[in-house]
Amino acid sequence: MLLRRRRSSSLYEEAVRLMPGGVNSPVRAFGSVGGTPVFMKRGQGAYLWDEDGNRYIDYITSWGPAIVGHAHPEVLAAIQEAAADGLSFGTPTARESVLAHAIMDAMPAIEMIRLVSSGTEACMSALRVARAFTGRTKILKFEGCYHGHADMLLVKPGSGAATLGLSGSPGVPESTAQHTLTAQFNNLAQVGETFANNQGQIAAIIVEPIVGNAGFIRPVPGFMEGLRELCDAHGTVLIFDEVMTGFRVARGGYQSLCGIKPDMTVLGKVIGGGMPVGAYGGRRDIMSMVAPAGPVYQAGTLSGNPVAVACGIKTLEILSRPGAYEALAARCARLTMGFKSAAEEWGVPMTVDHEGGMFGFFFAKDPVRNYDDAKRADLGAFKKFFQLMLDDGIYLAPSAFEAGFLSMAHTEADIDATVAVAKKVLKQVAAHG
Ligand SMILES: Cc1ncc(COP(=O)(O)O)c(C=O)c1O
Repeated sequence: MLLRRRRSSSLYEEAVRLMPGGVNSPVRAFGSVGGTPVFMKRGQGAYLWDEDGNRYIDYITSWGPAIVGHAHPEVLAAIQEAAADGLSFGTPTARESVLAHAIMDAMPAIEMIRLVSSGTEACMSALRVARAFTGRTKILKFEGCYHGHADMLLVKPGSGAATLGLSGSPGVPESTAQHTLTAQFNNLAQVGETFANNQGQIAAIIVEPIVGNAGFIRPVPGFMEGLRELCDAHGTVLIFDEVMTGFRVARGGYQSLCGIKPDMTVLGKVIGGGMPVGAYGGRRDIMSMVAPAGPVYQAGTLSGNPVAVACGIKTLEILSRPGAYEALAARCARLTMGFKSAAEEWGVPMTVDHEGGMFGFFFAKDPVRNYDDAKRADLGAFKKFFQLMLDDGIYLAPSAFEAGFLSMAHTEADIDATVAVAKKVLKQVAAHG
């Protein structure tokens, strides 16, 4: 099946004249996979329909937030109810505490929280607080991890920047970037050396506990434990960026699976259920530094917006129902094992992994442990796979450096239909060489 996308093409021609690259966020562009972006018109459950009326099984789910499925009727009702009372007041509202409780019950390491409007805002704010708390300037991040687009975090970033092959960004002053140290993910020895070379100077480590912005990369046993020990030994704040993994790989995020308590946690995506909500929180002594309780300034006109918060509350409530994460994990396993066995059948090297409702695959023979490994995977095979899957109604992330996301609305039949397409497509990938 070859889907026609005439209207998407003409909308793109218009958009490209109006917006840089025709998109409002680089990950939506199709530069690395060829072709033009698909303009989506409507979503329902596990499906998206484009402007030409084609239906796709959606494995991006808005890059994570749409975990209960698109246009879930209970979520829509909650939003409508909140909106009927007014869109924004710029005052505290009762709902903000309801969402705070829902998050803190799932993540006991968060003893105090601040709601913001995006993951970017949450990451940059958490780092400001960590710097103030420690009185230090330097921060340490990992190559290929993405923590939003704040200046200090655009150093060897993942996600769209990795897709575009950028290791930083013009416009970020050298005087800012110089305070951001980087190390290879899963390389504890390198982290140890970095601490040794910067004694008493590192305010925080920020890490995606499972990397989702360089493809899906899991920490090797001992890596997270090692980070915790190094942070304890050096008085450094350990920040888990669970914007992607929070309420996605498990209700309590990756921290509930690995049993390591970060000092601070950053959230976004799922906690807003598709509306703009981010959050940062952690130890009470650290969070007490935030204004107006303390001197570290951070604010937002739309922070804790009532409609967005209502959307997040209902999404987390649906996710708290029995069996939600078991079902997500079972479907992710079915999908990735289906991809893997189809790849094996045609002799295409592929590695797969998943946790809860998040999955990934690389066209690689050996396990991918870091960004350098990810860059060595067969990007040409990915491009071919992506294009052919899309032409058959399967909507995967248009980059080899992104994870995939399932929703509760994806049925076994959706997964099996996807695997059947993958089987056909991988044969063509194999023939392509
Ligand atoms: C791990 C991680 N942190 C931070 C961000 C930034 O979040 P936002 O796009 O909401 O600013 C993202 C976005 O993809 C992310 O994946």
